[in-house]
Amino acid sequence: MDVKPIPGLEHLPYAEVWFHEVDDERWREASAKARELGKPGLEVWTTDRTPEVAEFFVERGYEEVRRYVISELDVAAAPDLGAPAFEVVTLGERPELASSLYQIARESYPDQPGRSETSIGPAEVWRSWGLEPHEPDAYFVALDGNEVAGYGFLALEDGVWTHGFTAVARARRGRGVAGAIKRAQIDWARQNGVSALRTATEVRLTQMRSLNRDFGFLPLFEEIVLRGTAASP
Ligand SMILES: CC(C)(COP(=O)(O)OP(=O)(O)OC[C@H]1O[C@@H](n2cnc3c(N)ncnc32)[C@H](O)[C@@H]1OP(=O)(O)O)[C@@H](O)C(=O)NCCC(=O)NCCS
Repeated sequence: MDVKPIPGLEHLPYAEVWFHEVDDERWREASAKARELGKPGLEVWTTDRTPEVAEFFVERGYEEVRRYVISELDVAAAPDLGAPAFEVVTLGERPELASSLYQIARESYPDQPGRSETSIGPAEVWRSWGLEPHEPDAYFVALDGNEVAGYGFLALEDGVWTHGFTAVARARRGRGVAGAIKRAQIDWARQNGVSALRTATEVRLTQMRSLNRDFGFLPLFEEIVLRGTAASP
């Protein structure tokens, strides 16, 4: 059982843990590991494929704090949604743009629904997990004239190409930047023989859910995140 501080939310009094099945013994084990980390609470991840897990924690006073729709696109079947509203390039083509992304990352991570306490740390720390591990040819940057408007990368996770974080500068939101990035990502998948793309979308991101629907992403299941007090020893 992997119980750890929440990435980006290490200062919160919760430890993160996944449950696909649960009973009092497993809950106590996770709680003991959380306390060893100095965390009196748990942030529990589960899915709606095992609804009894969420029910177990709700009965013990836990509250749902976030929920992600996991959906998948059959790339060959994706409709053409027209030209993107912004130019999109990759870091493979324009590596010098990487230095402009930190500021957008810094304001966008805490703007995700239910993650307002997120702090991504200094630029060099963010680069070590938010930039450098990712394939430059699958790291997309949207431009507004000469300025960087947003970014989004694709990552291979457990053999499935998945949309990583998408971030748009606060001042440029609501104008189709994320839509342009997604169009470029789907084009890239098509050109590189990627048959399916997966995405996780927090239920409160209505514009992204509607965009996913328009592109033909089909919901597979939902991930549920709950927070509550660790079991007493
Ligand atoms: C979520 C986020 C990336 C969206 O970026 P954005 O550039 O503002 O989004 P867009 O303007 O491209 O809107 C997305 C699409 O939804 C459409 N849309 C916008 N508002 C809509 C609404 N209320 N209902 C339905 N569709 C809507 C847009 O028209 C666009 O589609 P289009 O490209 O076909 O025109 C941005 O708000 C952000 O960076 N948030 C913080 C970080 C975050 O939450 N990231 C998501 C995690 S993966």
